[in-house]
Amino acid sequence: MPARIAVLVSGTGTLLQALIDARAEGALDIDIVGVLADRTGTVGIDRARRAGIDTDEIGPGDHGDRAAWDTAVADRLGTWGPDWIVSAGFMRILGPAVLAAFPARIVNTHPALLPAFPGAHGVRDALEYGVTVTGCTVHIVDAGVDTGPILAQRAVPVLPGDDEASLHERIKVVERELLVATVDRLTRQGCRVEGRRAVFDD
Ligand code: GRF
Repeated sequence: MPARIAVLVSGTGTLLQALIDARAEGALDIDIVGVLADRTGTVGIDRARRAGIDTDEIGPGDHGDRAAWDTAVADRLGTWGPDWIVSAGFMRILGPAVLAAFPARIVNTHPALLPAFPGAHGVRDALEYGVTVTGCTVHIVDAGVDTGPILAQRAVPVLPGDDEASLHERIKVVERELLVATVDRLTRQGCRVEGRRAVFDD
């Protein structure tokens, strides 16, 4: 049975598209059972619909408070019965209800080499700091901001003349490959968390 994957998106969804394409090409043995966005009108949801994937849009504004939104997201994800949840450019912090429903089963991708430059502006912060190498990280989600155990990382050089957009585009090329490779490994091997480390099962 292919692993059941739910994907969370907020933006253009090119990471989601990489998963959709890899599945279509037979490079990933997964079933993308649902895509959830935190707002209406995302290109990511359009991509999912074009691929015939079930979708939903649940914004914090549709709910009384953050806890209610968190519970609604956990409930909706639960209806898809996912083995793994991939946060692919999802720009919100998941709350305790979602984390408790899927312990160590949520994966996030971040456009910097964690623990450097966590948060919403990882590319800009790395550039402003003046690093010559940055990259991307795929990690297990915990209650912190980009703090969970690391599954995989890849480096990307900062080039002279880079601005935030050009650097982010080059990171995203690598990030898409890394996400597909990591989801492949996770779904074939599984993994467990031992302290700070995410260890792939044999
Ligand atoms: C990725 O770099 C992701 O790490 C960051 O936002 C970007 C999402 O890209 N949080 P897309 O929406 O998948 O094109």
